[in-house]
Amino acid sequence: MLTENKILNSKILIVDDETLSIKLLQNILEKAGYENIFSTTDPREVLRLYKDIKPDLVVLDLNMPYLTGFEVMDQLKKLKDQSYLPILVISSMEALKDRFRALESGGKDFLNKPYDRREVLLRIHNIIEVRLLHQESLTQRKTLDRKVKQRTRELYNTQLDVINRLSRAVDCKDSETGMHINRMSLYSATLATKIGLSKEKCQLILNASPLHDIGKIGIPDSILLKPGKLDMDEWITMQTHTTLGAELLSGGTSKLLKLAREIALYHHEKWDGNGYPTKIKGTKIPLVARICGLCDVFDALTTRRPYKEPWSVEAAITEIQKCSGTHFDPKLVLYFIKCLPQILKIKEKYVDPISDSK
Ligand SMILES: [Fe+2]
Ligand SMILES: [Fe+2]
Repeated sequence: MLTENKILNSKILIVDDETLSIKLLQNILEKAGYENIFSTTDPREVLRLYKDIKPDLVVLDLNMPYLTGFEVMDQLKKLKDQSYLPILVISSMEALKDRFRALESGGKDFLNKPYDRREVLLRIHNIIEVRLLHQESLTQRKTLDRKVKQRTRELYNTQLDVINRLSRAVDCKDSETGMHINRMSLYSATLATKIGLSKEKCQLILNASPLHDIGKIGIPDSILLKPGKLDMDEWITMQTHTTLGAELLSGGTSKLLKLAREIALYHHEKWDGNGYPTKIKGTKIPLVARICGLCDVFDALTTRRPYKEPWSVEAAITEIQKCSGTHFDPKLVLYFIKCLPQILKIKEKYVDPISDSK
């Protein structure tokens, strides 16, 4: 609420080369109850004073030595975060063109000298009122912006929470541990950063990739947990974890869910088109799926699985290089090797509960 007190408390800066003019206006304002009045006779001082004081109103003369009132207004207009310049021009320039120019240059109102005491007070009151209302609406907008940002963050965190719980649900069924999910998603975000994807995209990859095998929820335990090699029928069923996952994640409107769906569907496609489920090849395979697919295989190779012992990092890299251009995007393989030091740090940090990596 805008009160009379607030208006009388507002800061007024008077700029006039004649000390007498300043004294006269100061007197009128003080008698009316205004408490924060500042002044200068040197227009070159205005910019500095304006930044220091942040006045709610500048009363500006036009005819001054060194800088005219027009030039002062030009300086003030260049200030950033200045959406409403509260300027009242008071001058003895009577020509209509000067009045127009003053208003066009940023003056909110114009008065001729000599002015009527009551009129000057009313005009000052009005400009300050608009200025304060403008400030209030700015503050409200900032508060609103902050609240919207906070809600958006909360919503995103809720999505992350749901994703974490869903990926834990797969962990319960699958023999792979939660550490696989941690490592694979961190590897993927590291590789994405290395190839120059935006910070936002890398963050999305980090948060969406844990759902790559969500479709395994629908695969029978007899297949999922089978220690030996799968027969042809079992293998075909196993492959459906990609389409099942995509189905589970379909219809999502957030960037996070859309990306998670893409990764779930395509993370087993191969560069030469011999992957599954759609057999698309090359750059037709979404980049995020190529990234996650490569990181998923690296982690699978270097850790123990029901059907195999863990490979050494060197053996895994040799295998990945061998499959560059057939299974994997050759460019991604090069970048993966470039970020191997970071990858190994992640691997060391997220070790499975019963250590099984070499
Ligand atoms: Fe998978
Ligand atoms: Fe995986």
